[in-house]
Amino acid sequence: MNQRIWIATALALTLTAPAAAWAGGKDIFLDKGCNNCHSISTQGIEGGNPDAPDLAAVGSRQDAEFLSGFLRKKSAKPDGTMHMIKFAGTKEEYVELIDWLMSLK
Ligand code: HEC
Repeated sequence: MNQRIWIATALALTLTAPAAAWAGGKDIFLDKGCNNCHSISTQGIEGGNPDAPDLAAVGSRQDAEFLSGFLRKKSAKPDGTMHMIKFAGTKEEYVELIDWLMSLK
């Protein structure tokens, strides 16, 4: 490849990569394997566990404070149900993921 084309291509990739690689909460959801269990019908996500609720409108059922405890297995639902897995990731990812879940209404 001619060097000038190579530089132009590398520059174009650098400029477009961050936006393309970081779509936020949805990426984190997929990255952490939440979709192994949960569907989100409005987001084109098909989960694999019929016991896991579709999260399409989770933002109208729950609030951020509840999710923050529940997904780290720090708190249970009123009926005592704990989440099946404990979120593993950074605090930034956790905040981003919960913000995104809360936007699903
Ligand atoms: C091994 C399967 C499994 C995985 C993986 C999983 N979940 Fe769940 N999740 C469940 C089940 C089952 C429930 C239902 C428990 C209940 O609320 O009674 C649930 C409940 C929830 C709820 C509450 C839904 C509601 O309607 O109140 C949220 C939010 C949630 N999960 C988010 C996540 C996120 C985010 C991830 C990824 C970090 C994830 N889950 C990974 C099985 C799973």
